[in-house]
Amino acid sequence: MNELEMPKHVAVVMDGNGRWAIKRGLERTAGHEAGEKALMKWVHEGVKLGIEEMSFYTFSTENWTRSPSEVRFLMDISKKIMRMIGPEFLELGVRVKWVGRRTRLWKSVLSELEKIQNLTKNCDKMTVNFCINYGGRSEILDAITSLLKEVQNGEFSNTKITQKQFKKYMYNSSMRDVDLMIRTSGEQRISNFLLWQLAYAEMIFLDDAWPDTDGQTLQQCIAEYNRRTRRFGAV
Ligand code: IPE
Ligand code: IPE
Ligand code: MG
Repeated sequence: MNELEMPKHVAVVMDGNGRWAIKRGLERTAGHEAGEKALMKWVHEGVKLGIEEMSFYTFSTENWTRSPSEVRFLMDISKKIMRMIGPEFLELGVRVKWVGRRTRLWKSVLSELEKIQNLTKNCDKMTVNFCINYGGRSEILDAITSLLKEVQNGEFSNTKITQKQFKKYMYNSSMRDVDLMIRTSGEQRISNFLLWQLAYAEMIFLDDAWPDTDGQTLQQCIAEYNRRTRRFGAV
């Protein structure tokens, strides 16, 4: 893959877990369990390929509308994954960042996220953003709310704000713009993911359900990305 250009930031909508399970006569939650394995394969491949940053859409602000038992399962599995991946990520050199809204997120999930962020804070091979209780609109509104607070305190007195300044108020202020967004399971929509950062992302929509994907899927997406011409409004 050496001759290929690597996107610096790959963002992934890991979709289709539920349908994957139903198709096999299993509970939807079995799909989430299978999805965890795919996630680890993508992270390993990302490191191998030299991708600098990957973001995974794990739980959206809209996913609270699912059944209480599925929500509980998703919270529990997020907690379990954060607890489990620590040593592996340390060895891989992967730094974890949680990206999302604090309100409503389980305290125990937050606490595991804080632990793994702390554990991996000096890792510098790749950054993985876990978007948990994340919504693109919430992120923009929360940024504006933080900004308004600074305006009220007199810490921000300009009458205009630049894109660069605005970024400072986002959940992860050092997150780069997304170069490549990949969504599995055949749905062709953004579902409130990284609205600001996706402005000029290349998008790939795959028919495979998330649990059926692996490192090779990511490789194929990188190859497709290299066939695209990014113009950013220029000619
Ligand atoms: C993605 O799979 C995981 C989450 C949204 C948490 P889904 O659970 O959305 O699976 P489908 O789309 O219903 O098949
Ligand atoms: C997007 O998938 C959210 C995550 C993958 C976490 P959804 O399954 O929730 O999105 P919709 O409902 O199909 O748009
Ligand atoms: Mg879905």
